[in-house]
Amino acid sequence: MSIPEEFTPAAIEASSVNAFRPYREFLKSGEPYVSIFLNNMWLNPPKADAALEWGKGWYYDTTVARKHAYWKNIELPEATRDIAQMRHDLHEWGYCLIEDGLSQAQCSRMRHRIAEQAAAERDLGIAYVVASQQHVWALVNKGADFRGCLEHNQGSVQAGPLIERLLDETLGPGWNHFSLLSNISFPGCHPQPMHQDQTFIAPYNPLEAPVLVNTMYVLQDVNQVNGGTLFIPGSHRPNGRGGQNGLYGELPRPINLEAKAGTILMFDGRMLHGSAVNHSDEFRYVLTNSCVKSWIREQKNFILTMSPEALASASTKLLWRLGFQSSITSNLTEGYGYQGTGKMGDLNGSVAEIRRAFDAGDYRHVGEISPASVAGLGPDVFTLQGIQRANETFRTPEFLAQMATLGVRP
Ligand SMILES: [Fe+2]
Repeated sequence: MSIPEEFTPAAIEASSVNAFRPYREFLKSGEPYVSIFLNNMWLNPPKADAALEWGKGWYYDTTVARKHAYWKNIELPEATRDIAQMRHDLHEWGYCLIEDGLSQAQCSRMRHRIAEQAAAERDLGIAYVVASQQHVWALVNKGADFRGCLEHNQGSVQAGPLIERLLDETLGPGWNHFSLLSNISFPGCHPQPMHQDQTFIAPYNPLEAPVLVNTMYVLQDVNQVNGGTLFIPGSHRPNGRGGQNGLYGELPRPINLEAKAGTILMFDGRMLHGSAVNHSDEFRYVLTNSCVKSWIREQKNFILTMSPEALASASTKLLWRLGFQSSITSNLTEGYGYQGTGKMGDLNGSVAEIRRAFDAGDYRHVGEISPASVAGLGPDVFTLQGIQRANETFRTPEFLAQMATLGVRP
């Protein structure tokens, strides 16, 4: 068989020189980071093995807002229980602070649990530690309160319904969890490079609304000493020439987060931030829970990460939020889920059913088949058959009869 010349790699390569490529410039633009770093050289992060420099104006050499030369005269969001104020703060400044979002009991329970977990992971040699922090991933399997946070259950997070409302209003209903982890700044750690949490869509930088909102649970008092998170208020909006062109100009300097234990910080996925240097002798613990538009692939592969034990006790709400509901555009398994709505509890797209079948250890996929090869096979040769029978509500006797009328044709 001879392949037409135009389809050969060499011909395609040759035809690509000086070709019409309308998206190339945008896709290679490196925005929003090119304009951010070009106009704010002090944001360049230190190399992982370099000593930190103080008194030279680097982004990590800062303090809390009330002590900051620039920010102390500007009215910034303060911790509040007033959701009306939070809506304005989140929109105007890219963040809001929920006062006593966790009760002190909830806060200390979670801090104790995460400290113990983090130490055990270090002891085992399985911890994920980078220059700026230790990450404890997969909290869905590591404590009932963490699952409670993912459900916004008030037994674990007393401000849960308020957080959920702000997420609904900012991301639109039906959002999913992207991740829930602990970020632990250890004594002497490096600062993290300043970033947007929704960097995964760069160079797209939507001006209208974020596609990610992060909820940070502050588990002890934080400040400029122990590594209160660095962030630039208002940086969720580009401020380059023309204002609305998506480019960044000169930015004000970051501040350290100053917040009491139990405070919850919610911030826009476009706001520039990064973990700070911890100058204290103690670990600094926070949890971060990013939530995203449901069409975004989760950072955690919850479908593989979730333990059978956590799966067995998971509520339909938790499964929904973790991406265990298929819809026409996501998480179809062998086609099952195509008629799912993506809504909570819809059995037409329940990935949990698939996962349970996998856990049972005898999942059998539909492969290459023919009418001859399936003639006489029973109703449970392939796992999909049973899953369809149990869950696909449209697969009625009438539907099956109608499908049979199509018959076998060449
Ligand atoms: Fe981040």
